[in-house]
Amino acid sequence: MPDIVPEAIEAYIEAHTSERTAIFHHLERETREKMAAFTMQVGKVEGGFLKMLAQITRAKRVLEVGTFTGYSALCFAEGLPDDGQVITCDIDPEATAMAKKYWSQSPDGKKIELRLGPAIETIASLDGPFDLVFLDADKQNYINYYEAALPKVPAGGLIVADNVLWSGRVVNPTDELDIAVDNFNKHVRNDGRVECVMLSVRDGITLARKL
Ligand SMILES: C[S@@+](CC[C@H](N)C(=O)[O-])C[C@H]1O[C@@H](n2cnc3c(N)ncnc32)[C@H](O)[C@@H]1O
Repeated sequence: MPDIVPEAIEAYIEAHTSERTAIFHHLERETREKMAAFTMQVGKVEGGFLKMLAQITRAKRVLEVGTFTGYSALCFAEGLPDDGQVITCDIDPEATAMAKKYWSQSPDGKKIELRLGPAIETIASLDGPFDLVFLDADKQNYINYYEAALPKVPAGGLIVADNVLWSGRVVNPTDELDIAVDNFNKHVRNDGRVECVMLSVRDGITLARKL
């Protein structure tokens, strides 16, 4: 993924972000070794940001769309109280098997519940409320996921969407995916039910706070 933030600045940001536990280093290494799409992992800075979001919003229940090898789910779990819960969904049994292996090594892993299956069906099957929803799966469906999840978020809750800058391609969208991400960004910006802010963290993150 081409960086939005210049490499030297990104390195500086990483160097001035709190260190992670060893589990994350091991998970990152195995994901790089075994998964072609390893850049999908949120990584240290965004992961730290997600954990802190869970902490400062005092979230108790998080819904994640897009587990992959489980990095962001474990970040959320670390940011939740002991009785907190992360429900995370994916369609990939191989990536999520690696996720489960690492969650089981963490004391916070017990807060995570995996649902295997298409996210749109999983979201429909779940009862809210979710204090925080993280969208990080197939971009063509972002609007569908947002619309399915928003009724399950209480006033003051957050929908957090990843990759909203799509490597910068949203500025001049050309292919289907660029257009899908740009349409999602416009959809959120024009939605009177939320207040939103777009951040240039990694590949771009939007925070939409339900009014
Ligand atoms: C960007 S990755 C998630 C990265 C993860 N949050 C992390 O930090 O490691 C996107 C994931 O969405 C999953 N996915 C794609 N389409 C999906 C769908 N229809 N329903 C659920 N998950 C889907 C993929 O299998 C992939 O593992």
